[in-house]
Amino acid sequence: MAVIVQLVQGLQSLAGHLTNPANLTQILATAFIGIALILILTQIAQRINVDKNAPPEVPYWIPYLGSAIAFSVNPIGFYEDNRKKYGDVFTYTMVGRKFTVCLGIEGNNFVFNAKLVDVSAEESYTPLTTPVFGKGVVYDCPNHMLMEQKKFVKWGMSNDAFRAYVSEIEEETRSYFQRWDNKVGGKGDLFTAMGELIINTASRTLMGPEIRGLMDESVAQLYHDLDDGFQPINMFFEWLPLPSYFRRDTAHRKMRDIFMKVIEERRANNITDKTDMLQSLMNQTYKDGTPFSDVDACHLMIALLMAGQHTSSTTATWALLFLAQEPQLVKDMLAEQKDVLGSADASLTFDALKNMTLLDNVIRETLRLRPPIIMILRKVLRPLNYTGTDYVIPKGHYLAASPIATQVDEKYYKDAYKFDPRRWESIVEEDSGETVDFGFGKIAGGGARNPNLPFGAGRHRCIGESFAYVQLKTLISTFLRMYELELTEKGMPGSDFTKMFVQPELPVEINYKPRK
Ligand code: HEM
Ligand SMILES: *[C@@H]1O[C@H](CO)[C@@H](O)[C@H](O)[C@H]1NC(C)=O
Ligand SMILES: *[C@@H]1O[C@H](CO)[C@@H](O)[C@H](O)[C@H]1NC(C)=O
Ligand SMILES: *[C@@H]1O[C@H](CO)[C@@H](O)[C@H](O)[C@H]1NC(C)=O
Ligand SMILES: *[C@@H]1O[C@H](CO)[C@@H](O)[C@H](O)[C@H]1NC(C)=O
Repeated sequence: MAVIVQLVQGLQSLAGHLTNPANLTQILATAFIGIALILILTQIAQRINVDKNAPPEVPYWIPYLGSAIAFSVNPIGFYEDNRKKYGDVFTYTMVGRKFTVCLGIEGNNFVFNAKLVDVSAEESYTPLTTPVFGKGVVYDCPNHMLMEQKKFVKWGMSNDAFRAYVSEIEEETRSYFQRWDNKVGGKGDLFTAMGELIINTASRTLMGPEIRGLMDESVAQLYHDLDDGFQPINMFFEWLPLPSYFRRDTAHRKMRDIFMKVIEERRANNITDKTDMLQSLMNQTYKDGTPFSDVDACHLMIALLMAGQHTSSTTATWALLFLAQEPQLVKDMLAEQKDVLGSADASLTFDALKNMTLLDNVIRETLRLRPPIIMILRKVLRPLNYTGTDYVIPKGHYLAASPIATQVDEKYYKDAYKFDPRRWESIVEEDSGETVDFGFGKIAGGGARNPNLPFGAGRHRCIGESFAYVQLKTLISTFLRMYELELTEKGMPGSDFTKMFVQPELPVEINYKPRK
């Protein structure tokens, strides 16, 4: 009892103190000195205890947060500025973690080809990905299982499957734009349109017709809830009592149940003639005999949905924004279509798309300048010597690769910031002829020394590239046949770096006019 009485008296006297103006000044002065002390101590802490072999560190004022704000406003500028001061390899602090970025083609190679005993992708990504995808797949299993899962997925991306997909994507695109004004034209919300089209086409092709059928109602909302739980905050804080975290968890369960029901129905009806991804994941076994269960298949389907959505939809958006400024290029692209297909309105086919090199180069150039993924992470498992230097990167740091740095480097690309798809006509991508196989098929071995790596390299390299190209090429060529484009008075949008995947600053509108 006495304790409580004392406590109440103490609180009363404190309240009296606070409301007295003379004391308020004193309190503010104390707070000011306190903050100044923390700032000074933060600076001192950064100077003592430095490991002289560790790479240089970017200094910061706010403890814990470190450089988080400067980085998220403009990561590319942040890297460029610090690269001038410290060179290609340096460490910065964000939200209590140390990131050591390795820039340049050597840096790309160092991170992408780091050994499994030295670094771990799963330890970096799992707080973000596992609650969304579910357990047992991707970054919630040993790496050798991920390598086999990537092989299962590749089997679902055969050329035969792609042949069927092209007409489906063309049809989805045409039917989507029924909602735009096809008499006089107007202002269209390009970003929203591309987001919806990519999800409609991916669900129609990879996910299966059953999922596509649900896309306009329940699944679209579930996707949004999953997406809201797939943000940088989720990477730093595995769990917080926020509504977005609860909605994410509910959406995950519902999404898994939807895929599960489709699988059960296919099994019950002995349906085996489907060529989509779901069907190919339904009957897989790991090399050691462990079956890939139906729950695993559902989880991997969610992972593919998340991996392919923003990457492709932002790429489609940027490509069309660039094209809106290049009417002559668009004319040349339409001429290329006519050339390859024999007529301007013949249906697209997979084999014809392969011959459209200008279209190909437009997508390649868009991804060079606007790669959706600008930071690739691996957690350091044991001290790592950085090739060719005395630097030892401490255990516990996150290694970061940022291939965009070489993608916009004058050293490799003349007028590096200019959108010039034809530059690819004279670039022969270096091919050492060596290949490696991490378990999901052969990929270029010297690949990580290529300055243009929007799909990454090494064992974690993207397996969705060919699907993304089929989807983007079909969508963009169909779109260009339908509309003439122009930027609005707002011009080209800037980039928003605060999302997991870089996207244009919203809203993104475009002036369109139906083509006669
Ligand atoms: C323009 C489109 C795309 C871009 C720019 C892109 C980019 C990337 C990058 C940079 C990585 C490497 C990540 C790392 O090393 O940590 C990656 C991995 C991956 N991507 Fe893509 N991606 C795209 C589309 C897709 C699509 C459509 C799918 C599936 C349908 C997909 C599935 C995957 C998978 C399964 C991985 C492997 C992750 C790992 O092994 O750790 N991606 N992607
Ligand atoms: C599916 O196949 C099994 C065994 O082959 C058979 O018993 C069952 O009746 C079939 N179901 C349907 C719906 O055809
Ligand atoms: C599943 O795979 C096994 C062995 O690989 C094969 O014998 C069987 O026909 C497959 N079943 C279906 C439904 O594809
Ligand atoms: C694509 O180009 C190749 C080589 O020029 C040609 O043999 C083939 O018929 C073309 N295919 C289509 C569908 O245009
Ligand atoms: C890494 O560097 C340290 C000190 O610079 C050295 O003692 C060690 O042997 C090196 N380790 C490897 C694997 O090269």
